[in-house]
Amino acid sequence: MRMRRKKHLNERLADCENLFTDMQVESVRFDHTDEVHTLNLSAIFGNNNPVELEIGCGKGGFICQLAAQNPDKNFLAVEKYANVLVTACEAAQERGLTNVHFLWGDAEYLPRFIPAGCVERLYLNFSTPYPKKRQATHRLTHPHFLEMYKGLLAQGASLVQKTDGREFFQYSLESLSGSGYTLTAVSLDLHTDGIEGNIVTEYEQKFIDQGLPIYRVEAKI
Ligand SMILES: C[S@@+](CC[C@H](N)C(=O)[O-])C[C@H]1O[C@@H](n2cnc3c(N)ncnc32)[C@H](O)[C@@H]1O
Repeated sequence: MRMRRKKHLNERLADCENLFTDMQVESVRFDHTDEVHTLNLSAIFGNNNPVELEIGCGKGGFICQLAAQNPDKNFLAVEKYANVLVTACEAAQERGLTNVHFLWGDAEYLPRFIPAGCVERLYLNFSTPYPKKRQATHRLTHPHFLEMYKGLLAQGASLVQKTDGREFFQYSLESLSGSGYTLTAVSLDLHTDGIEGNIVTEYEQKFIDQGLPIYRVEAKI
């Protein structure tokens, strides 16, 4: 997908450069080396609090609200498009959040940046479904991503997925089970079932407004 470059994008990114890490260094993008750039999370956050991760955070509404509600935890959020990431960074900056850090780039680069075994909870909110079969490897619940997450997740950590896509959800359930995750909660209509403390994301609100059901799964490794 090609996105129109937002006006003054570079200036806006520069204004919040301390809030994000650019994962798209050349050696990583072109896979020249096995070079790692493991983040020093204690230095970034100034503490060793538990870490949670959202992949595909979009404009950051979810992660900013979660971070504001949980000042005793740290949050990493990944977004591959700068046009969108910049809005998420600005939202965190406006709210004065010091427990969120963003990663700019594709999720596939994460093992080079996130210390192994440190993520207590992983959120996949309304991930791009990539419905065409030939694009299946881009789905964030494809088995190769689920294997990669195992390296990032702490012992007993959980993964939470929400989506409006029934077929994508079915695919994800099969992929999670096939990759050895244990499904601990499944909802085929989150907002009818109700769930305590659910934070509605930007995409989720659009689907709620259209009267569509939201699917949710929680799984453990
Ligand atoms: C449909 S939007 C959902 C945004 C937000 N999570 C929400 O629920 O409102 C999916 C987001 O995931 C990002 N994304 C998709 N694949 C990604 C990947 N492999 N790595 C990082 N971000 C990705 C897209 O750029 C997009 O911003």
